[in-house]
Amino acid sequence: MDVPGFALITGAASGIGQACALAFASEGAAGLALFDLNLEALSNVKLEIENVLAEKGISKHCQIELRAVNVSNEDEVNFTVREVARKFGRLDYVVNAAGIAMKHPGGAAYVETSDWQRILNVNLTGSFFVLRAAARVMLQQNPILSNIDGRPLQRGAIVNIGSIQAVAGIPASTAYSTSKHGILGLTRTASEDYAKDGLRINVICPGYTETPLTSQPEVLKVMKEKVASSVPMQRMGSPREIADGILYLAGGRSSFVTGTALFVDGGYTQR
Ligand SMILES: NC(=O)c1ccc[n+]([C@@H]2O[C@H](COP(=O)([O-])OP(=O)(O)OC[C@H]3O[C@@H](n4cnc5c(N)ncnc54)[C@H](O)[C@@H]3O)[C@@H](O)[C@H]2O)c1
Repeated sequence: MDVPGFALITGAASGIGQACALAFASEGAAGLALFDLNLEALSNVKLEIENVLAEKGISKHCQIELRAVNVSNEDEVNFTVREVARKFGRLDYVVNAAGIAMKHPGGAAYVETSDWQRILNVNLTGSFFVLRAAARVMLQQNPILSNIDGRPLQRGAIVNIGSIQAVAGIPASTAYSTSKHGILGLTRTASEDYAKDGLRINVICPGYTETPLTSQPEVLKVMKEKVASSVPMQRMGSPREIADGILYLAGGRSSFVTGTALFVDGGYTQR
């Protein structure tokens, strides 16, 4: 997938972020900076990566740095992004996978202000903080040429995580859906800012995906009904299927792609 450089992944302790960490390592990334609130779970992900690389007989060393970072804490993000970039010498790919979701019983009329702020702070402002800190590093570094055929410059690639809810409304999802629509806007405007500099910024929009975020019994039950009625493929996606789309958007094979939204949703949004 042409991802030989250094990747920073937020929300890497679980679900899609965890699958991305494994995917980048398996595809030959030189290093991974894994951010999450949960440092213990990150340590398990690191062990899992080391085991998978050993099983696959991949001898290329992958430097793995773990950091407890709350993406909605501006100072923490600024400091830690700079710190890992210094350690690696550069930062080639960023995956903004940290995120939270909740339902608001009764819908928009009954949303608690604190819930609205919490979801927007993590999903939208957190992604912005990481994007901004990473872009400042990436814009200062020399471009790398693609491994494939030396195609034009790739100074860095940032992949944000939207959702089918970046373009569709789903009941009782006021704050989450708003945050994901915002991610689409953030991606589009920032991609315009830096397209000419070889810094590419895209968003992946997963459909219903089996992760701890969706595995609480009451959420899963509603989701399975929704999947049966609204997803043409009639199944949920796996985190690895989302990670594969992210690898494409991060790596050299998408060298002419910026500002785009890639829907990996079993056909949900074409209906
Ligand atoms: N699972 C789905 O069906 C689905 C669908 C569309 C979009 N998404 C999006 O994908 C992303 C990942 O979701 P997932 O399903 O893998 O969820 P998940 O709950 O499995 O993983 C999210 C990770 O983010 C971390 N996190 C939460 N708040 C954080 C913070 N403030 N700072 C740092 N880390 C934090 C959590 O500790 C967790 O490890 C989210 O943005 C989510 O909205 C998920």
